[in-house]
Amino acid sequence: MKILKESGFSAEKIVENGNKFLIGNGYLGYRGTLDEFGAKECVGLNIAGLYDGVAGKWRETVNAFNPFYCLICADGAPLDVRGENIFSHEIALDMEKGTFFRETVFSVGGGRVTLFSERFISAVEKDLLCSRLRLTSEKNISLHITAGIDADIWDLNGPHLCEVETHCGGTFAEASGKTQELGIPVRVVCTFSHPLKRVRGGMGEISINLKAGESFVLDRVARVLVGEEGFSETDFLTAQEAHRREWARLWSLARLDAKGDARAQFALDYSVYHLLILAPKGNYSIAARGLSGQTYKGAVFWDTEIFLLPFYMDVLPQCAKRLVEYRVNTLPAAREKAKSYGFGGAFYAWESQNGYDACSDFNVTDVFTHRPVRTYFKEKQIHISADVAYAILKYYGRTQDDEFMLRGGLETVLSCAEFARTYSYYNHVKKRYELLDVIGPDEYHERVNNNAYTNYMFYLTAKEGVALAEKFLKKYPACGEKLLENLPAKILEKLKEWTEKLYLPQPNGEGIIEQFDGYFRLEDVGVEEVRSRLCHPNEYWGGSGGVATATRVIKQADVIMLFNLYPDLFSEEIRRANYDFYLPYTEHGSSLSRCSYAIAACNIGRREEAYSAFLESAEIDLRGGGKQWAGEVYIGGTHPAASGGAWIAAFYGLGFGKKEDLQ
Ligand code: BGC
Repeated sequence: MKILKESGFSAEKIVENGNKFLIGNGYLGYRGTLDEFGAKECVGLNIAGLYDGVAGKWRETVNAFNPFYCLICADGAPLDVRGENIFSHEIALDMEKGTFFRETVFSVGGGRVTLFSERFISAVEKDLLCSRLRLTSEKNISLHITAGIDADIWDLNGPHLCEVETHCGGTFAEASGKTQELGIPVRVVCTFSHPLKRVRGGMGEISINLKAGESFVLDRVARVLVGEEGFSETDFLTAQEAHRREWARLWSLARLDAKGDARAQFALDYSVYHLLILAPKGNYSIAARGLSGQTYKGAVFWDTEIFLLPFYMDVLPQCAKRLVEYRVNTLPAAREKAKSYGFGGAFYAWESQNGYDACSDFNVTDVFTHRPVRTYFKEKQIHISADVAYAILKYYGRTQDDEFMLRGGLETVLSCAEFARTYSYYNHVKKRYELLDVIGPDEYHERVNNNAYTNYMFYLTAKEGVALAEKFLKKYPACGEKLLENLPAKILEKLKEWTEKLYLPQPNGEGIIEQFDGYFRLEDVGVEEVRSRLCHPNEYWGGSGGVATATRVIKQADVIMLFNLYPDLFSEEIRRANYDFYLPYTEHGSSLSRCSYAIAACNIGRREEAYSAFLESAEIDLRGGGKQWAGEVYIGGTHPAASGGAWIAAFYGLGFGKKEDLQ
């Protein structure tokens, strides 16, 4: 039984449970909040791939109006979980059915009134979400229900919808608005199984007398319509049946077997659930915080290519294709970005919003001075382009999808390599190309030279890209010109010369690859020592003045990531030496880190260590863990990359589930 339950109510857990009990269908996400909650309680109906920016604030994904607001009074007493008249309260997420449940029993006038509600976002129709509310009472009571569309939206950097109009009457309610920046219409329409009398905005009321032992049921069927999308009617049960059928199909594809280990099984199921609710339904990719809200601007990071793609390649190949196509479709924007910095090729957005880089120059706020801190993620985390190329090559390796490669896949890989080539600098003394002034996966050390992960990743993807291009030119001579038409003349020769002379840091006497030039010279202290130097719990560890900056303490797996992506590049002895060396310096300040070490531990035969790192990663959102703050910026939400990384460790490393189980 894949059911996550929580009994009792605690106001402190409202935000955390919003993430933990999230439902979604790859396009829409609805946080695990309650019927009577509003913007203050972070109710969120998040839309993937729809972005809006308000002047002077960060652009982020849009949250839609909430069609499931409902406040009930029984004999004049509000049925609100925050009240005093609570007899019992439980919420549940049925992962098998992609459905959220709540049941609260209230004491009203000496009798008990039960409020039961369930909701799901259709796994079949991308714009559809449904809710059923059932009220039962031990005694005869009068019920007064205020239900409808709440147009007061929780936003981090909003408001995003303007010219808001609301309507409610009979069995229908509607709220519509337009995004501020592009004027894209967003409409939420909702039909009710019982007529309402309008009270205000998109809200109406129902007054009934409920007899002892009987139930009152209110179904709500809503659609979120973007642009010119039209409304079509359905009912709760029809939608529910199709939805459940689709979830059964999804689980039949995705189910893994933790071989009798109940804790691992639950954690794994929970991770798989999150990956399933994020599978894109259209031409967009997956945001770093999934559909749990607007954190990280709803933008797409390298998380998708490196931590999520493997799951989709094995379980939902058509989604894997969407993910790689997203990068091919945004190639023009990546070329623009490269050009804007004076480079050739394609420099992908560090935080991609349909290709546009949402990463701000000041991504962190100092907790002491409240001043913005200059960060260089956008300009210097160039490995993003190697990650994109890597993902496309992996996808091709698996699918042999020549058509995709000819339609832009290969051009994208070569453009990423070309970017690194033009970014690099030729050191005439050492007679080699170097990649200077970069940030590797470890974001605490900015603007370093020759980050090993970055150099190797560009080297390997460029080499593979060139070899593949040569193969394609032979196989499809007629396509030759087209394939290279948007690339500089003699690109393949240039890239060959470049890879031959690109500097690749080698293991030292102890077998350790230096993370970047000069890393070994940094202060040799461990994570706890550095933590003890913090003056504020939310202080930023990196940047120019962070506690970790002058030390060997790193935010997340860095050199180790290279071994995970290319396990055969170095001997097991070297991989083990680096694992043992870097682990004590790793703070795991990113949710991408534990699973990376889990995968690395699997690759060097350390099953026990791998197992506990896998659990840490798979349970991150069950625990409500992960950093909530970077300086003064809220970064809470779900952690899809941790789920994806845990899945990789479980499936490829720990042997949970057989490959034949997956198609
Ligand atoms: C990590 C990045 C990651 C981003 C989004 C940051 O904290 O350092 O590697 O891409 O979060 O998950």
